[in-house]
Amino acid sequence: MHVAPTTGSNPARGPKAQRIIVLAATYGNGAAPASAGGFLDDFERCPVIPGLPLAVVGFGDRSFPAFCGFAAEIAQVAVQRG
Ligand SMILES: Cc1cc2nc3c(=O)[nH]c(=O)nc-3n(C[C@H](O)[C@H](O)[C@H](O)COP(=O)(O)O)c2cc1C
Repeated sequence: MHVAPTTGSNPARGPKAQRIIVLAATYGNGAAPASAGGFLDDFERCPVIPGLPLAVVGFGDRSFPAFCGFAAEIAQVAVQRG
């Protein structure tokens, strides 16, 4: 298992990955935490590895209108990119 921060890491690191789990909190009303700045840009550009399973686990608070908004955004990009 390889654990890496979201910022500056390649989400599809290496051909040996068998699955990817993205852990994403949400801050600032639907935005990425400061520590995850730039992750979505990287994620939108990283190579797609066909058949590689990916799960997104969102951390948030239901009292915010954009509950788990950043995780939802990541999941949306993942679905769009196959
Ligand atoms: C300033 C601030 C903004 C937040 N904005 C959101 C938000 O828009 N959506 C959401 O689901 N959670 C939001 N949260 C909740 C955090 O995601 C939550 O605190 C984080 O997942 C850590 O969980 P914990 O506080 O139970 O440790 C926010 C928290 C803070 C402090």
